Amino acid sequence: MNFAERGKVFLAPLAGVTDRAFREICRSFGADGVCTEMVSAKGIWYKDKKTADLLTFGEKEIPCGIQLFGSEPEIVAHAVTHALSYHPQWIDLNMGCPVPKIVKNGDGSALMKNLPLAEQVIRAAVAAAGDTPLTVKFRLGFESDVSGEFALMCQDAGAAAVCLHARTRSQMYSGKADWSAIGRVKTMLSIPLIGNGDIFTPEDALAMFETTGCDHVMVARGALGNPQIFSQIKQLRETGRYDLPTPAERLQTARRIAETMFLYKPEVLAAAEAKKQVVWCIKGMRHSAKYKNTIFASRNGEELFAVLAEYEKEVLAHE
Ligand SMILES: Cc1cc2nc3c(=O)[nH]c(=O)nc-3n(C[C@H](O)[C@H](O)[C@H](O)COP(=O)(O)O)c2cc1C
Repeated sequence: MNFAERGKVFLAPLAGVTDRAFREICRSFGADGVCTEMVSAKGIWYKDKKTADLLTFGEKEIPCGIQLFGSEPEIVAHAVTHALSYHPQWIDLNMGCPVPKIVKNGDGSALMKNLPLAEQVIRAAVAAAGDTPLTVKFRLGFESDVSGEFALMCQDAGAAAVCLHARTRSQMYSGKADWSAIGRVKTMLSIPLIGNGDIFTPEDALAMFETTGCDHVMVARGALGNPQIFSQIKQLRETGRYDLPTPAERLQTARRIAETMFLYKPEVLAAAEAKKQVVWCIKGMRHSAKYKNTIFASRNGEELFAVLAEYEKEVLAHE
């Protein structure tokens, strides 16, 4: 991945969401790069079976990064070496996760309280990554804003680029992301900066580029049920306007996500996980409340696709 070429729009890593199917669909809508869900370096060390699934991606997702989390330099370096065997276009270290289960082990955003250890982890990962770019994704800080100092440390330790989610750990996902911090950190760095936080519309993406001067942006929650946001951002940038998907197109996207999920996951798992994504895609559409209930009540793929077909028929009758 060439982070020096500016203006890219990335899909963020989202645990439980950015699986193969969703990444593939986001790439098809023009995301310039996608990333796996976070993968535990310790899980790789202890050869946990589920981690292999998390590390796997296909041709249609490339360029795809692999995101790792961990706080023991040797274990993280081992995980990087293992991850390289999947040929990712970059490796990202998660130093921003706020979830208590992760933080209490000293991982994720807990590393923002311990810069010397974070630096050791990054240096070990950079050495193991060799020619593959190593990036770091972090927050403003754990409680207070240390993002400038932290970003400079990442740069000195050899990161190819950094991604700043402009919230503290204490904020979790509440309040507004502080885009002014993204602008401030940008002026301090010579490596590229990816801005992240509160891009929910194409206008937000262009505003983040403009007001912060960041090199790239990363979209997370704004892509849930709306992978079209990537093509809309490009269209807005190029033409000053963008198309909103019709209800039929939204249902088609929901169907594509579900069908792709069934390609890559065992039936029972795909049926359970597809429902959530389908419901996000139809949110706010006519009769979506009624169909939401039948979608959640569906017991397998056959039932789920039957509900979708019924909804499609109803939508087409009204278009
Ligand atoms: C459900 C969920 C799962 C997430 N999983 C990850 C993850 O695995 N790795 C990561 O670095 N960030 C993760 N994040 C944080 C997002 O990547 C992103 O930084 C954050 O949501 C802010 O961006 P947004 O305002 O565009 O949503 C997650 C966020 C949510 C809501």
